[in-house]
Amino acid sequence: MRSPKDFFRPLAVGAPEPVRQIPFRPSRMIHFFDPGNEKMVAKVPDMVPRTDVLLGNLEDAVAADRKEIARAGLVRIAKETDFADTQLWTRVNSLDSPWVLDDLLTLVTEIGDRLDVIMIPKVEGPEDIHYVDRLLAQLEARAGLDRPLLVHAILETASGVARVEEIAAASPRMQGISLGPADLAASRRMKTTRVGGGHPGYLVRSDPTGDDLVQGRATYQQDLWHYTVARMVDACVAAGILPYYGPFGDIRDTVACEDQFRNAYLLGCVGAWSLHPAQIAIAKKVFSPEPAEVAWARRVIAAMGSAGDAGTGAVMLDGKMQDDATVKQCQVVADLADELAGRDPELAASYEQATKEALA
Ligand code: GLV
Ligand code: MG
Repeated sequence: MRSPKDFFRPLAVGAPEPVRQIPFRPSRMIHFFDPGNEKMVAKVPDMVPRTDVLLGNLEDAVAADRKEIARAGLVRIAKETDFADTQLWTRVNSLDSPWVLDDLLTLVTEIGDRLDVIMIPKVEGPEDIHYVDRLLAQLEARAGLDRPLLVHAILETASGVARVEEIAAASPRMQGISLGPADLAASRRMKTTRVGGGHPGYLVRSDPTGDDLVQGRATYQQDLWHYTVARMVDACVAAGILPYYGPFGDIRDTVACEDQFRNAYLLGCVGAWSLHPAQIAIAKKVFSPEPAEVAWARRVIAAMGSAGDAGTGAVMLDGKMQDDATVKQCQVVADLADELAGRDPELAASYEQATKEALA
């Protein structure tokens, strides 16, 4: 048994104290770039004000003979770029790869003070997080860091899904989990060949009305990822960390990308990955509550009192019953709006305008 007290003790002499809470910082889009690709690197300074999180990717999509170039590129970018309050994350190579040890050794000792979160791919269970946890503590001590690096797991193995609750609670460093639908599909032997999104073959069909089994029967495509996203959200919230949808590979299909992101948003995710600049705007739109929703939430709170005041009774607003549970939902939306408004003046103005009109 590990005592709860030990949980908050540094795992190496000289390492910083573990965090006790994962701070909520806007992370509507985690924008991936290849730090070894000069064209992408040149765009990084322009991306800083447009994104909540920039992630230097070292894993899949970076070819074996480019791994070291990408790693060195990330070190340089981190040292040379002013990220202001945009977060800098990285995705290191998987724990069974020949590159991950050097990824961690180099990044923590060279730019550990610039990095916010390290994403670990293909996590199989809590033992993977324990390994990274101890190693990071040793490296933080060596680098003299005064704040611990946070860890984000990608949920992309069947074993990881089966143990997602244990992964979420494996370390005080755990910041969040993203769904990795491409690797997860392969690991589960799903018969898809795409990165996220739906599949036209995964459907339900209305009953036949007569002997004809084909005509007049509507079909409804179902969400392949519903179970996993919902389970991931519960595991994350129970552990006090943040859930994210991952990648959507069909860059041209901005409509289905928006649908997939919105499903994740409505189920509780706080953001998604963007693989192309076109997906930044989609994530920003989807993961920021609509001004009308924020105005409604503030109207309910104004009528009922804040969610902290239990026993607010019930009132009718526009014919809809409001009680302690609806005011709590409204508080979630209003709190998110406040957090995003602090980072996004345009959004702040639209929330204020809509709220003024709703409360007039
Ligand atoms: C992401 O890494 C995925 O495999 O979907
Ligand atoms: Mg993957």
